[in-house]
Amino acid sequence: MAVIASANFVTMEDSRPMTKRVRKAVIPVGGLGTRFLPATKAMPKEMLPVVDKPLIQYAVEEAAAAGIEDFIFVTGRAKQAIEDHFDVSFELEHILERRGATERLDEVRAVCPANTRMAYTRQGDPLGLGHAVLCARELIGDEPFAVLLADDLIKSDRPCLQQLVEINEQTQGNVVGVMEVAREHTSRYGILDIGDEDGDLVTIAGLVEKPAPRNAPSRLAIIGRYVLRPEIFEHLAESQVGAGGEIQLTDAMARMIGGAPFHGLRIEGRRFDCGDKLGFFEANVAYALQRDDLADGIRRILNDYAGS
Ligand code: UTP
Repeated sequence: MAVIASANFVTMEDSRPMTKRVRKAVIPVGGLGTRFLPATKAMPKEMLPVVDKPLIQYAVEEAAAAGIEDFIFVTGRAKQAIEDHFDVSFELEHILERRGATERLDEVRAVCPANTRMAYTRQGDPLGLGHAVLCARELIGDEPFAVLLADDLIKSDRPCLQQLVEINEQTQGNVVGVMEVAREHTSRYGILDIGDEDGDLVTIAGLVEKPAPRNAPSRLAIIGRYVLRPEIFEHLAESQVGAGGEIQLTDAMARMIGGAPFHGLRIEGRRFDCGDKLGFFEANVAYALQRDDLADGIRRILNDYAGS
């Protein structure tokens, strides 16, 4: 007879671990953000605002909407502002309260979504995304988890991470968000070698980090959303420095292919590369155009400049 005690136990008939819900997310914020210097000299890139909200908050809201409860920020130098952002600010709240600025007060209080917890761990040296994820190993433990790169801002009706979590629930495997990129841009991304395709879902046959266009196995690129099984940590721990002198997450993921199911999901929605100046600017325009208080003004400004 099968004995099912809790989601973390195994049945007596089946020694495979039972389903574990994705409830933890790693948000690596240890990068140097050199493309945005000097803005990022003393301020993290992830605190750059799109309209009036920092990039990191969009990522946290998206993850919370997908059921994430525990956030692990992997921080580096000059990242104190991120901890402050998600901390209670008694003084500010008190002042807003005294002024009767109720709407602003509610916005400030809503920064940390309900029923979520924030933890911080430090990446001593920015040795790459793979190394940043490895720094979260002890805090994740033995369960599947999400990784979100806050500088990839994804505007979609269904939160992007939710789309990935749903696939993980079906397959119990690894799943990464993917999108088609121009061939001349393959050297900026981890690129998929495509196996089978089923609508938006692609079985991953191989992964190559930042291939030159002529060597790229496809134009399908990994964007900053992942749901990974904890085995990734073993592969990361064994990793050598890869492309760009960094420990690459893509290389460790490539070594997991052939184990648990590994899919790429063509995501629904629009992705803005906010680590890049033009992408960041475009995101600001797109988000401002959706705001009742800003849309007309933005349109007028854009028209004025388009004519000049
Ligand atoms: P990027 O490749 O955009 O690097 O990192 P970067 O250092 O942030 O920015 P540039 O290229 O110098 O302008 C993608 C994500 O991985 C994190 C970054 O914070 C960003 O969220 N990252 C990168 C780390 O946490 N640690 C690292 O060692 C490298």
